[in-house]
Amino acid sequence: MQYRIMEAAAIIGRSQRLVVLTGAGMSKESGVPTFRDEDDGLWTKYDPAELATPEAFQRDPRLVWEWYTYRREIVRQAAPNPGHYALVELEDLLPQVVVITQNVDDLHQRAGSSDVIPLHGAIMRSRCTADCRGGPTAFSSEAPVKDGLPRCPYCGALARPDVVWFGENLPAEALLRAMIVTQEADVMLVVGTSGVVQPVAALPSLAFRAGATLIEVNPNASAITSLAALWLDGPAGEILPQLVAAIRARRGGQ
Ligand code: OAD
Repeated sequence: MQYRIMEAAAIIGRSQRLVVLTGAGMSKESGVPTFRDEDDGLWTKYDPAELATPEAFQRDPRLVWEWYTYRREIVRQAAPNPGHYALVELEDLLPQVVVITQNVDDLHQRAGSSDVIPLHGAIMRSRCTADCRGGPTAFSSEAPVKDGLPRCPYCGALARPDVVWFGENLPAEALLRAMIVTQEADVMLVVGTSGVVQPVAALPSLAFRAGATLIEVNPNASAITSLAALWLDGPAGEILPQLVAAIRARRGGQ
């Protein structure tokens, strides 16, 4: 492993345009469960069709809100882990670091990453189901409650979590920028995603076809592993700080 970290440090240390793509595994060591891990993945215990689709919300908004209130509580208590901070440190070492994330927990932003493209929304934010002030009409999670359901503070319509559900489009501008930076990247560091949810899952192959070198950090093989020049098979909170230390050591030695 040490040798692979040194190799990865050499590649990333030379990057002019690094893109980091993150998924739920990035936040696992912060205590936020992933979706598909065999031990405690949310979708191994719960059915996404009943909790994370527009149809589910229409059918039973109370159930969906209960689920998101539970997840918000986990995120509220979570703090960035050493992996998140290592990505912030990379900004001191490289000319460009853009983080594209599927995570809705805001932990990259809370750690201090300065250029984050969130593609699946923000769990602590809510949004008006009528988009009364234009789409999207978003507000903080402290929305007024009526009949046990959160409401839009502007028009009183039902509020919903400001996250992307299955079957919904991703925020267009963010997705477009993610695709542009992906195509321009010389290195893509993929951290903690199973790489099975589209359209984000297509970004690593887009980077690969455009000539980027892919490096993956994930304790388990994923749908992306076969594209990766290097697979660092360990937890993000341990591997990423080691990677940053190795880049610093190389700089110090030059
Ligand atoms: P998954 O749960 O599908 O995958 C998590 C990945 O993290 C797996 O490949 C694990 O092996 C890996 N992993 C576990 N622990 C790790 C650790 N400590 N360090 C690094 N990696 C670790 O999560 P995502 O790929 O993010 O969508 O899932 C994609 C989307 O599916 C989510 O954004 C969510 C979900 O439905 C929406 O909410 C729209």
